[in-house]
Amino acid sequence: MRRLPGVRFRTPDPPPDAASVLRHFRDRPGLYVHIPFCRSLCPFCPYNKVRYHGGLAADYGTALQRELDAYLVAGAEPFTSLYVGGGTPTLCPELVERIARRVTVTGERAIEVLPSHLNDPMASRLLAAGFDAVSLGVQSFDPEVLRHLRRPTTATQNREAVARAVGRFRCVDVDLLFDTAFDRPEVLLTDLATCFAMGADQVSTYPLMRFGYTPFGKRPHQPRREHRLLREATDLAAAHGYERRSVWTFNRVGGPTYSSITRAAYLGVGAGAASSAGTWFLVDHFGLAPYLAAVDAGRLPIARLAQLSPSAAGAYRLFWQLYTGAVPTGFVARGPGGERLLTAALHLGRAAGWLASTPDGLHLTAGGYDRYHDVERAVTYRLIEPLWAELMAEHGSGDASSPEPAATQYGS
Ligand SMILES: C[S@@+](CC[C@H](N)C(=O)[O-])C[C@H]1O[C@@H](n2cnc3c(N)ncnc32)[C@H](O)[C@@H]1O
Ligand code: SF4
Repeated sequence: MRRLPGVRFRTPDPPPDAASVLRHFRDRPGLYVHIPFCRSLCPFCPYNKVRYHGGLAADYGTALQRELDAYLVAGAEPFTSLYVGGGTPTLCPELVERIARRVTVTGERAIEVLPSHLNDPMASRLLAAGFDAVSLGVQSFDPEVLRHLRRPTTATQNREAVARAVGRFRCVDVDLLFDTAFDRPEVLLTDLATCFAMGADQVSTYPLMRFGYTPFGKRPHQPRREHRLLREATDLAAAHGYERRSVWTFNRVGGPTYSSITRAAYLGVGAGAASSAGTWFLVDHFGLAPYLAAVDAGRLPIARLAQLSPSAAGAYRLFWQLYTGAVPTGFVARGPGGERLLTAALHLGRAAGWLASTPDGLHLTAGGYDRYHDVERAVTYRLIEPLWAELMAEHGSGDASSPEPAATQYGS
């Protein structure tokens, strides 16, 4: 598969220092923190993670705080939001608490939670640490789908977690996965109705992406079937008082949005975290061994840096803006870069019927959402998958989807 034009990653040697990274932000960034540990590794999951080991997690916590400190000393605060993802962040609750208490954040504080971890004490702990938004990795309430995905949680645990979270956190997102290559993707609609009935603030409906390095391997997508399902989901949402607020998310009308890192400016810390800083796009080492070694040597653990051309930076900004389904008036002029390209793209989108005017700007039509979905798939397979595959190799395992701790001192 061809890579995307205009985006070329290099290995920065030496890596930039924190002040240089921060200088590239035009706006205050959100903070993303990556906790790459899981008890068991799901065969479909492409994210950077290793099996949990207490000794390794302790060393990782120390290194992560050092990386974060480098940015704090250089003046990164206040952050506009905090987002803790993984992996399974709740495997390291003390580390998560330390970080949440350490940073100054003006907006949302969100965390990904494996449903079986959200018992009452964990919910209270997260609330006490200031988290006001949770994303629950439910994937489905259907036992057969959960078996297909080989999830470590049961349908009952999934229901209990949603029931426990709704009303306690300001914003509760439920992640659902659907696989059109599996027999019954229509389960998505049943699952969606369950989330609506339970009062989730947001439901994210992700089509399963197949990264070649995972045990699920590659399989062709059925774009039309995916589009049809998401259009049916949009109708179902409307019937329950929900609206489509992004290509894959449905929100209670008038309710909050769980925004995760779908924003143009964010600073990422932790193994595999990315940072989007204006014309710079940076990715940290995926392998825990190189990550720890870099921090130990007093360097930022940056593995790749892409310097975007003004047009590529503009296209990137438009991509994330369109993710929200709307482009406000004055968006193009806010920069950086690519003004002519962006104006032409918006004009073309309107002419093709993918964008329609509103009093505040433009919004994606149903056909526009379909096209955005196609673009998102292309970005995933042409840009993200090759980059992640390359960086996953740092784990030094034959099977990059189930990397064991690289440092032998931790044993098994
Ligand atoms: C980092 S993951 C998981 C958070 C948490 N560890 C869990 O499993 O509950 C965040 C979300 O990504 C989605 N996801 C994981 N693998 C995916 C794939 N191959 N394609 C599309 N979405 C995926 C899932 O819906 C998942 O809840
Ligand atoms: S989907 Fe599975 S493997 Fe991936 S981060 Fe969540 S628990 Fe870990």
